[in-house]
Amino acid sequence: MSRRARVSQKSLRFTESVIREMTRLANQHGAVNLSQGFPDFAAPEVIKEAAARAVAADVNQYAITWGAKRLRDALVAKTKRFAGLDYDPETEVTVCCGTTECMAATMLALVNPGEEVVIFEPYYENYGPDAILCGASPRFVRLREPDWSYDPAELERAFSNRTKAIVINTPGNPTGKVFSREELAHIASLCEKWGAIAITDEIYEHIVYDGATHVPPASLPGMRERTVTISGLSKTYSVTGWRIGWCLAPPELTGAIRKVHDFLTVGAPAPLQEAAAVALQSPPSYYSDLADNYRKRRDYLLPALESAGFRTFKPRGAYYIMTDISAFGASDDVTFARSLVAGAGVAAVPGSSFYSDPSAGRQRLRFHFARRRETLEAAAKRLGTLRAGATASTP
Ligand SMILES: Cc1ncc(COP(=O)(O)O)c(C=O)c1O
Repeated sequence: MSRRARVSQKSLRFTESVIREMTRLANQHGAVNLSQGFPDFAAPEVIKEAAARAVAADVNQYAITWGAKRLRDALVAKTKRFAGLDYDPETEVTVCCGTTECMAATMLALVNPGEEVVIFEPYYENYGPDAILCGASPRFVRLREPDWSYDPAELERAFSNRTKAIVINTPGNPTGKVFSREELAHIASLCEKWGAIAITDEIYEHIVYDGATHVPPASLPGMRERTVTISGLSKTYSVTGWRIGWCLAPPELTGAIRKVHDFLTVGAPAPLQEAAAVALQSPPSYYSDLADNYRKRRDYLLPALESAGFRTFKPRGAYYIMTDISAFGASDDVTFARSLVAGAGVAAVPGSSFYSDPSAGRQRLRFHFARRRETLEAAAKRLGTLRAGATASTP
């Protein structure tokens, strides 16, 4: 038999998702799972009923590959309402299987092998593999605690004539960073200078706290024409399993994204697209209640983590808390996370999985709080058995 590798070089350049591995460990140990970010509470009745109606009405076959007309129209109307931006549903919208597919399809459609993609780190773990899959090189720029700001000079050094795109995740996972208008204006000036495209991941667009405002990067002067805006149903409507996301982009970019999307997945689930159209018509109070309920959960978990011995970095958006575990004297984040799940019975994500250089996250652990109050109380009780200063092997 030939000694040639049976798997691709690309697939060897990234590992299995650490986040989903932590969920498996949580199940194995009966732990409270604060690792993989999905809610344990119900989705809104109105959208579940809309999905049931669509199935009953036999909306069971492929939708138009770039998205059901009703959903594209609803998306365009919502974007106008919230961001004040106009998009053409016929030429500027692509509905995909979640933001995950949106990001992969966008990178495959726009980025050539050898080109560079600027990514802020710590980053949501998909961006690195997405860049590798299209043969591009990621250029990482560090966000620094406690406020996760970046050094403007470092960002400027990351751009060059090899830069094809920058990924902007706001509000961000795992940091909860909400990019300010000033930061986005700086990024916009660099995109313009180097002819780069902004690929935004705005999946937490409605989850912001303490008066923070979500500024869609496409709304900055000159940016609509060079931005692919990505978001989806998962987090805003608590339906991560439905797998519906969308890309809004100028016609030339949309044309390429639609072709890649077509050959990756053909289309997103047809009946759920009908329900998505209903979800997008939710009243303003739906979104303010969503953010308010998450703020209450954050404000419950933060002090519980602090009193267990974690140093926390208060998020301004999204539903994660990055922590520093130095007080526990653990050798590294992975060992600590494994012992936390098996010992105290709480699952969290090792910080190193969010950095290109794992050593940068060795004293970091990420918790999420998309959980019912009872679940967070159970987690707090278990975390209460930890003592800062105890070693990671004895949580
Ligand atoms: C920043 C970010 N983008 C994308 C996703 C995945 O989104 P989707 O369920 O739409 O694929 C997540 C999920 O945790 C996320 O945190």
